[in-house]
Amino acid sequence: MSAWLHDLQTPALIVDADALEHNLSAMAAAKPGATNRPHVKAHKCTPLAGLQAMHGHRSFTCATPREVMGMAAAALGDDLLLANEVLDPHRLMILSSLQEQAQITLAIDSNETLDAVAHAGLQRVIIDVNVGLPRCGIAPDKAGALADKARARGLTVAGVMGYEGHLMMVTDRAEKKAKVDEAVDLLLAAHADVGGDVISSGGTGTYDLHDRVTEVQTGSYALMDTSYASLGLPFRQALHVWTTVISATDQWAVCDAGLKSLGMDHGNPSIDGQFVWFCSDEHITFSPTRDSGNAIATVGSKVKVAPAHVDPTVAYHEWLHVVRGDEVLDTWAIDLRGW
Ligand SMILES: Cc1ncc(COP(=O)(O)O)c(C=O)c1O
Repeated sequence: MSAWLHDLQTPALIVDADALEHNLSAMAAAKPGATNRPHVKAHKCTPLAGLQAMHGHRSFTCATPREVMGMAAAALGDDLLLANEVLDPHRLMILSSLQEQAQITLAIDSNETLDAVAHAGLQRVIIDVNVGLPRCGIAPDKAGALADKARARGLTVAGVMGYEGHLMMVTDRAEKKAKVDEAVDLLLAAHADVGGDVISSGGTGTYDLHDRVTEVQTGSYALMDTSYASLGLPFRQALHVWTTVISATDQWAVCDAGLKSLGMDHGNPSIDGQFVWFCSDEHITFSPTRDSGNAIATVGSKVKVAPAHVDPTVAYHEWLHVVRGDEVLDTWAIDLRGW
């Protein structure tokens, strides 16, 4: 029996099946197989990760232990990189117990994170290197010593990773390439001391500027958001929040999605042909742009809202409905939420 978009309870997260397929194919053509390690933090959805695997990517990046556990449970655990530091002994023990069914590599950037991983009995680490983003990552000139300590404790050191998140939104391509090259220089200097097969870096905003790493870690490209759309990348806006207009005046309309169903750290969401005035907890107030010729939306009508930041938007929702036109083709659990 068919299900229809207009029957969904709102706010609902929807993905356009054709835009998603376009995005997955475009990335698989640019970065085939193991040269892309899709980051599941951007969609938190094992059915979508399964599609990425069908497009040739069998290795994945995760941000939380929960994501690793869920990927292993979904039989997508050939090669899971937890690209984040973890100190929680309980969660590390759970990851350790999964090593028979999944290959799990943990990022470390300090003696403390090495200790935590080693105590839990985890076997594989990657040295997380600071390539310019003031977040996690050890200084490049200290990476080799940490790798030596890890090997001395019997661990396998897979290689290095370095995430240049501060460069994703640089708009000038030549400037971006030069800055990415500087970041990669730092990563390669660390790799010379660390060794290992893996040199992992990058994201949706820089995937096509990397030619000296073994793999890129791209997340947002699959679903996309309006921030990344502003860069003119070859990926389509596949994700929207489907909403109902619940109130209207002769000057504005209000739909039933707000801060609690949209990641807002990259700014207001967008609605085609409309100007978004502001968002509050459960509401977006909007009105037609002057040149759109649109009338004010009527109470009961439906509105598609494009989020400015995909990752936190997805994390607010339990389900992702796959749609084509007016038809709901499938409903996927967003099953990797939590920590
Ligand atoms: C460690 C790491 N790698 C890669 C990415 C790339 O993600 P995206 O492709 O969404 O920019 C992120 C995003 O925050 C990240 O934290």
